[in-house]
Amino acid sequence: ESTTVAIIGAGPAGLTLANLLRRNGVDCVVLEVRSRAYVENRQRAGILDNHAARIFTEFGLADQVLAGAPVETKLEIRYDGEPRFLDVPALAGDRPSHLVPQQLLVRRLIAALPEGVLRFESLDIALHDLDTPVITYRDTDGVSHELRCAYVAGCDGFHGISRTSIPEGVLTEYTFDHGIGWYTMLADAPAPRYPLMGISPHGFAAQFARGPQSSRFYLQYRPGEEDPRSWPDEYAWQQLRLRLGDNSLPTATFTAREIVEMRSYVAEPMTYAKLHLVGDAAHIITPMGAKGMNLALSDAATLARAITTAVQNKDDSGLRAYSDVCLQRTWNYQEFSRWYTEMVHDITADPFRRKLAKARLDRLFTSPPAAEAFADLMAGTLT
Ligand code: APR
Repeated sequence: ESTTVAIIGAGPAGLTLANLLRRNGVDCVVLEVRSRAYVENRQRAGILDNHAARIFTEFGLADQVLAGAPVETKLEIRYDGEPRFLDVPALAGDRPSHLVPQQLLVRRLIAALPEGVLRFESLDIALHDLDTPVITYRDTDGVSHELRCAYVAGCDGFHGISRTSIPEGVLTEYTFDHGIGWYTMLADAPAPRYPLMGISPHGFAAQFARGPQSSRFYLQYRPGEEDPRSWPDEYAWQQLRLRLGDNSLPTATFTAREIVEMRSYVAEPMTYAKLHLVGDAAHIITPMGAKGMNLALSDAATLARAITTAVQNKDDSGLRAYSDVCLQRTWNYQEFSRWYTEMVHDITADPFRRKLAKARLDRLFTSPPAAEAFADLMAGTLT
C-alpha cells in the first residue's frame, strides 16, 4: 500500500494535519497505536487560541470544528486576595480564544475524516529508510502491513517512536526543569465567574470552569520536597481557600487528581530526510499560556501548506523552511510560557525574584502596551 503522507499519531497534531491535507486534496493515512475510545476520551488541553481558530477558518473547517464553542472573556488574577481583571480578548484587538476541550476537538476532527484514513490500534509501528520511507505495523489480528509514502509526519507525542527513529547525533535537545509542580483536582464546585488565578505567599492556585457546576483546581507544590498525593483533602481545600482568597469554597469531593511537573523540551531540527516532527514529538511546553496544543496545530498548518505546495507545484521551499519557521514560533512561546510561569509562581522564590515577579504582574495593570503584548501572545502569533 502507498500514500502521500503517513501520519504517525492521532492526537491534536496528527488529526489536524490529516484534516488540513485532505481539504487540500492531499491523501494521507493516520496510524495510531491506541483505540479510538482512548483517544477520544483523553482530557488535556482546553484552549484553542485565536490563531489556531484562524487556521481552521483558512482551511474551511471552522464550522465543523468550532461550532458552538464559547469564547474566552476576562481573566481574574488575585494577588494576596486582591482581585484584578484583564480583558485579554479586547486587549488583543478583539481576538478571543475559544474554549474547546481537547476531547471535543479530537472527536470533531475524527468525525470529519472519511473511513479508511484512520487506523487505530496499529501496533509495533516502525519507520524504515527515511529517504524513501516505508512504515511497518501490525493490526489487532496480527497481520503485518507495509505502507510506502512520500512524507512521514511524526505526530506521536513526546514518548513516540518518530523522534527516536532519527539517527543519533542529528538532533540537539534542550531540556529545562522549572522546579515547579501542580496538583490538579476536579470537583463539583460552582465554576468561577472568570478563569481565576491566585498568587499568595502560600503559592500559586487556580480555578477554571469545567461546566457550570464543575471546576478544576490547581495548587503549586515543591517537587522533591512535598508529595501532594499524601495531602488530606481538607488540607488541599484549606490551601485553595487561602491562595484564592475565597473562604466560601465548599469542601467538595475530588473526582480526579493529577500531578504535573513543569518541564520544557525542544528538539532541533524538526526535519530529518522525509520525516517532519509535529507538536509534542518535537517540543513540550509548560501549561502557563496554554500554548501546547496551539503550537501543535500551528506546526500542522505550516506542514500542511508546505506539503501541499511540494505535491501540487513541485516546490519544496516550504518544506525546507518548515523546521526554522516552527522553531522560531516554539522558542517565542517557550519564552512566553517561562515568563508567565515565573510571574505567577515566583512569590515562593527568593525575595529578589519575588519582587521581580510582582513588578512583572503590576506592569500588566499599569502599562497598556505591556498588557497588549501579553494579550497578543495569548491570542497567538500570526506566523
Ligand atoms: N505509534 C503510533 N501512535 C503513537 C505512538 C506510536 N509508537 N506513540 C504515541 N502515539 C500516539 C498517542 O497515542 C497519541 O494519540 O500519538 C498521539 C500523540 O498525541 P499527543 O501526545 O496529544 O501529541 P500532539 O498531538 O502533538 O498534541 C499536542 O495537545 O493535548 C495537547 O497539551 C497537549 O501539548 C499537547 C498537544
